Amino acid sequence: MEFQGLTGNFTEANVEALAIAVFKGEKPSAADLKELDKLTGGQITSTLKSEEIKGDAGDVALLRFTPKGSVKASRLLLVGVGDQKDYKVSGIGVAAGTAARYLRKCNVKSFAFLPRFNGGEEVAREAVQGVITSQFELDKYKTKDKNDKSLSKFVVCVDGANASDLKKGIANGTAIGESINFTRDLANEPPNILHPTEMAARAMKMAKEVGLKCEVLDEAKMKKLGMGSLLSVSLGSEQPAKLIVLRYTPAKSTAKKGDLLALVGKGITFDTGGISLKPGEGMDAMKYDMSGGATVLGTMRAIGLLKPSIPVIGVVAAVENMPDGRASRPSDVVTAMNGKTIEILNTDAEGRLILADAVAYAEQQGATRIIDMATLTGAVIIALGDQNTGIMGNDQELVNEIIACGKEMGEGFWQLPLSAEYSKQIRSDIADIKNIGPRGKAGTIMGAVFIQEFVDKAKWAHLDIAGTAWSDGVKPHRAKGPTGVAIRSLLKVVERSQ
Ligand code: BES
Ligand code: MN
Ligand code: ZN
Repeated sequence: MEFQGLTGNFTEANVEALAIAVFKGEKPSAADLKELDKLTGGQITSTLKSEEIKGDAGDVALLRFTPKGSVKASRLLLVGVGDQKDYKVSGIGVAAGTAARYLRKCNVKSFAFLPRFNGGEEVAREAVQGVITSQFELDKYKTKDKNDKSLSKFVVCVDGANASDLKKGIANGTAIGESINFTRDLANEPPNILHPTEMAARAMKMAKEVGLKCEVLDEAKMKKLGMGSLLSVSLGSEQPAKLIVLRYTPAKSTAKKGDLLALVGKGITFDTGGISLKPGEGMDAMKYDMSGGATVLGTMRAIGLLKPSIPVIGVVAAVENMPDGRASRPSDVVTAMNGKTIEILNTDAEGRLILADAVAYAEQQGATRIIDMATLTGAVIIALGDQNTGIMGNDQELVNEIIACGKEMGEGFWQLPLSAEYSKQIRSDIADIKNIGPRGKAGTIMGAVFIQEFVDKAKWAHLDIAGTAWSDGVKPHRAKGPTGVAIRSLLKVVERSQ
């Protein structure tokens, strides 16, 4: 797809359709609507008057008109963006994506979008990111009935903006949008194709493309490092575990000396539950149990392209959780890299077992801030549904920063508490800790306090994305399936850390 930035003449863009943001309850008297109203023979007035579109986010109305003079387009799409006072930069991508999906369905190949948001780089970046992520479909493995319509050109128009700002925004929006889709593609991969070795190979290839260093630790190496917790999860699998380590080092760092941010992800390529086998119904969903790892890979991909001025490392524990004659049993005791002993009372609480060694490794590599992400608990889905990612941590400032970045990027994070009292609940009778807490109590927090045991001095936050990493339904701006949640918020954290 070709992307262009336009700083003035929206109606004269060389495209088949124009799309414009419309606020809730808006009258056609606004200056920029007036001109378009004239162009369409008063259709904006009549459409708004008839309440065919009220301007709620996701609303659209398509108007057709006869192009005249220097105007080439023959269609105008009104795209609702909700209340004007609530219109945030994150609404731009949703609106652009909504327009892109709608117009693609109408067989339109090219369109220009006027977000009606003051700014430059950021506006273009959000619009382009929204268009790119809107085009992702789950049809990779279809041989027929594939989505065969595609857009060839998108023009983002920002009145009075600087052309070079728009150019930069388009480049960054492309980097971010494609990285989100990279993550979504991984999360959607069937587990027979995307096993740990394949996940590592994809990481390796991606790292080469965007200029990151990539190292993959095999089981022998992990054994030497003492990662008995992580390795216990892959015992029952024919697929060897891989620890994927990505490193981004800026040409010139603005980080305080010694500061290093680590992104750590759960990459369970399939979670059967192990010997604590999950029920068959719905088990297929567990292919997405590597979404945390995929999020780390996508975020690192974007970082490689955006080149921020702080160093970041990404650590992904890629493991398959299977039942087998060699698999871990409930009541096994293993020793993690930091020397702590763990009584495995449920082999289905495997995410925390692999993250234990992954976060300890990140800290050993020098991380001073660690953000881990994982589809860790079913309990977070019950607590927060699909609208908020559960967030917990040992440093309120880091947690607040992630929540604030999420607000800005339109991604919800909701904090759950940690405390010494909760930590007591994972004390084991025979080892240091056990991998589950009391039945039916604070399941999401139990996962977090477990991981906390493997963080030493680093500031740490844990994101439980089990409810937000997968969307069960299609949205106006997005296909159903993997969402790529948290990538944009994490990139904002990185941007603000510079
Ligand atoms: N991958 C699952 C979490 C999950 C469950 C995500 C359902 C999405 C839907 C995780 O490994 C798991 O099985 N967690 C257990 C923990 C329990 C055994 C303490 C859970 O949530 O049931
Ligand atoms: Mn599990
Ligand atoms: Zn799992």
